[in-house]
Amino acid sequence: MKLAVIGGAGGLGATTAFCCGYKHLVDEIKLIDIKENMVKSHAMDMGQAFLPFGKTKVSAADYPDISDCEIILCCASMPEGKVKDRADILGANIKIMLPICENIKKYGNPNAAVIITGAPIDVWAYCFWKLIGWKPSQFLGFSVNDALRLKWAIEKATGKEYEKLDATVLGEHGGDGQVRMYDQIKYDGEPLVLSDEEFEAVESATANWFKEWQALEAGRTTSWTSAVMLTKMIEMIIDESDEVIPASTPLVSEYGFEGVSMGMPVKLGYGGVTAVVDPGFTEEQFAKMGRTADKLRGQISQVPLD
Ligand SMILES: NC(=O)c1ccc[n+]([C@@H]2O[C@H](COP(=O)([O-])OP(=O)(O)OC[C@H]3O[C@@H](n4cnc5c(N)ncnc54)[C@H](O)[C@@H]3O)[C@@H](O)[C@H]2O)c1
Repeated sequence: MKLAVIGGAGGLGATTAFCCGYKHLVDEIKLIDIKENMVKSHAMDMGQAFLPFGKTKVSAADYPDISDCEIILCCASMPEGKVKDRADILGANIKIMLPICENIKKYGNPNAAVIITGAPIDVWAYCFWKLIGWKPSQFLGFSVNDALRLKWAIEKATGKEYEKLDATVLGEHGGDGQVRMYDQIKYDGEPLVLSDEEFEAVESATANWFKEWQALEAGRTTSWTSAVMLTKMIEMIIDESDEVIPASTPLVSEYGFEGVSMGMPVKLGYGGVTAVVDPGFTEEQFAKMGRTADKLRGQISQVPLD
């Protein structure tokens, strides 16, 4: 199994490449970035770092080299902090993403799974599908951090252990179009109903976490958390795991939605999404997903897809 990482010199690309090589999930990793020396330095460094851990081969690569990669991870983006508003990020990333899509379409393995992390990921998961033109199930926007933070906040509020908690977040990644599936929370396999105080504590823990993070103005993204979760997704693709994970995937009619990509519960395997699992929406959740879909379609319309 071979992995291509576009944006491989950046925080998220390099850290995920490192995690995948350290765990020897793949035989080869090909790093692509406009920062040529930085990407070469990562390849030289990781190539030695992996020697005791299964000898994953790492190279600085260019697009013609990715034709044999079964997984393409695209972390390329404008530097964090250069743009503040989500709408500005979309505009700035258009210039980066369109040529990348052209190159993936021209050189990529047409059976590969493509994972996208660049903001706003729901918009890009949909537009990558439209621009590259393979099957919609091959495109995945990375959104599982929302569920991780929800579980982190529930642990803080209730004292229940993270490892035994099951909770998910669907809809938009990171924005006000998130749909937190509070009615489906489970602990050790049993339903867990939060008290009003616990619910307030969970909502404020996640909101405060984001405020604290943004106030740091550190100029870096959550590359440790995100790399760990991206590595988990890559592992699920390789293992054809039966586990369900939230990820943004282009929808063509699933559970009442089309013309948009949004976080849904999915199973992963070779080539991307193997199943979109019934989310079991309540009426209220379904209505919120509809509003989220309208919002995201508005953003998609800003990207030139022809
Ligand atoms: N979805 C999530 O949960 C989540 C979490 C963290 C980060 N992110 C997003 O992931 C993206 C990457 O984050 P990061 O921390 O790695 O950022 P970073 O700035 O460290 O890395 C981005 C890399 O992209 C490269 N790049 C820019 N234009 C390119 C091009 N045309 N071709 C190839 N490479 C190019 C840059 O040189 C840089 O190395 C950002 O958009 C960030 O907002 C998403």
